[in-house]
Amino acid sequence: MVSEKTVMPTQAQAELAVSEQMVPLSDAMKEFRAQMHLYKAGIRTVEMKLQTLDEEFHAKYDYNPIHHIETRLKEPRSIFKKMERLGVSGTIGEMKRALTDIAGVRVICNYISDTKTVAEMLLRQDDVVLVRKSDYIHEPKESGYRSLHLVVTVPVYLSERMERVPVEVQIRTIAMDCWASLEHHLRYKAEGEIPEDLRYRLRICAMAIAEVDAEMQEIKRAVDRNAP
Ligand code: GTP
Ligand code: MG
Repeated sequence: MVSEKTVMPTQAQAELAVSEQMVPLSDAMKEFRAQMHLYKAGIRTVEMKLQTLDEEFHAKYDYNPIHHIETRLKEPRSIFKKMERLGVSGTIGEMKRALTDIAGVRVICNYISDTKTVAEMLLRQDDVVLVRKSDYIHEPKESGYRSLHLVVTVPVYLSERMERVPVEVQIRTIAMDCWASLEHHLRYKAEGEIPEDLRYRLRICAMAIAEVDAEMQEIKRAVDRNAP
């Protein structure tokens, strides 16, 4: 049982706790590991829901709105870094409240319309609760980043209780994903500081990609209209 008040382990202890090595664990390490298992279960739940929807869509319309799905559990190093940035520390309860992106699911769709379809299908489910929605497709970020972000909670059933687990779902097209991956890589290489002239050029690339997305969408609509 994870106690809200359990003091966070140190980063090194947290890393050891998630490594699943056969080492003696303190209570804090055990609870951190248990909490990470919950997030993993949340990821599996959301991924399975999305796969089911995609399969049903394919059976009904002979079309897959989802190109592929990527998942990731935030690493202890990133968890500690973000908690420090947000000025929260102390307990596992504080980590749970402050960080809603420890469990992450990225859904890569073919067309812009698919991002909306996927989000609607997921949010229509009774056990999926929307916590936050950020539509960076209609309102791109300053960087040029486009994506539909949902923070949802899903139920995870344990031996003796149910816990709702937050999962961040990023939904975007292949083209948006291409830009985000390259921009992320460049930012990483530049160690976070990309000069303004290059940031401007990246924004131009994002706009060009948005135009390609819109045009591909139009072409798909035209093909659908002409299909026998
Ligand atoms: P984080 O502290 O990074 O989680 O930001 P946030 O909690 O304010 O949430 P936001 O919705 O702004 O961004 C969450 C995630 O979206 C990031 O962790 C990235 O995966 C992605 N993201 C947001 N902005 C950008 C961007 O400009 N470029 C790229 N490549 N990804 C971005
Ligand atoms: Mg985040």
